[in-house]
Amino acid sequence: MASFEDCINFCQSESGLFSSSDIILKEKQLETLKALYFNKDCISVLPTGYGKSLIFQILPWFFSKKLNKQQPMTVLVASPLNSLMQDQVLSLRKKGIKACSLNILGTKGITFEEDDDTENELETDVPFEQLQKGEYQILYVHPETFSNKKFGKLMRSEAYQTNVCCIVIDEVHMISEWGESFRPEFMKLGELTCLFETAGHLALTATATPKALKELEVILNYRETTLIISNPDRPNIFFGGKEKTPKYQES
Ligand SMILES: Nc1ncnc2c1ncn2[C@@H]1O[C@H](COP(=O)(O)OP(=O)(O)OP(=O)(O)O)[C@@H](O)[C@H]1O
Ligand SMILES: [Mg+2]
Repeated sequence: MASFEDCINFCQSESGLFSSSDIILKEKQLETLKALYFNKDCISVLPTGYGKSLIFQILPWFFSKKLNKQQPMTVLVASPLNSLMQDQVLSLRKKGIKACSLNILGTKGITFEEDDDTENELETDVPFEQLQKGEYQILYVHPETFSNKKFGKLMRSEAYQTNVCCIVIDEVHMISEWGESFRPEFMKLGELTCLFETAGHLALTATATPKALKELEVILNYRETTLIISNPDRPNIFFGGKEKTPKYQES
């Protein structure tokens, strides 16, 4: 298996994401990648503008090096913000990266009708045959898509089961903020963790309370989560590592 350093070097030379020479991976970007390298489920709380996207955008190369694959792998990015998905897809394509977004036709990710059981069409601007072959390196998916049967079938196909290297949830605080009305969709995120059990699992946000983080860990079905935090405004967030009972010397 390739070393962590080899995986990083490979991303830098092969992904096309480091063409600007002033990009040197930051401490928390590297910490997050290291947690994924060691197969840890990971939640990273990093400030706005820190560079959370770069972490998941290099994963197709990172994992292909680690797992000795001939081609870049596929990363699935669940994102509730449609405009953000579109911006990132366009910017990645300009760098020669095969990226696309998947949505449900007609809704544009804005509406959600709980009683509507009609099966909507998957919406994407790339040929479905190419999607089926697993040719895309970065696949942005709106949470509404997770209930779609065609999407479920795609994810269970051999191409996806062998090629998906990481499930990423961007803007994960929105799960807590959007609350009950979006719960069915977000619950599917936990199913996705199980469907790709051996892949990496990463959730990203710029803001989360300790209570929300605990909830997210449960909803996402994460185990032994590594929490990476760099937020000067919330120095007292901690997770997991606190001792339950005070230690004392028996006399
Ligand atoms: N290590 C780095 N060094 C310099 N610039 C970087 C680095 N990593 C990412 N960037 C740049 O930082 C900018 C902001 O990145 P990005 O949009 O990923 O931030 P973010 O953490 O996702 O913020 P938000 O919370 O607003 O979503 C981008 O222009 C990106 O190219
Ligand atoms: Mg971001």
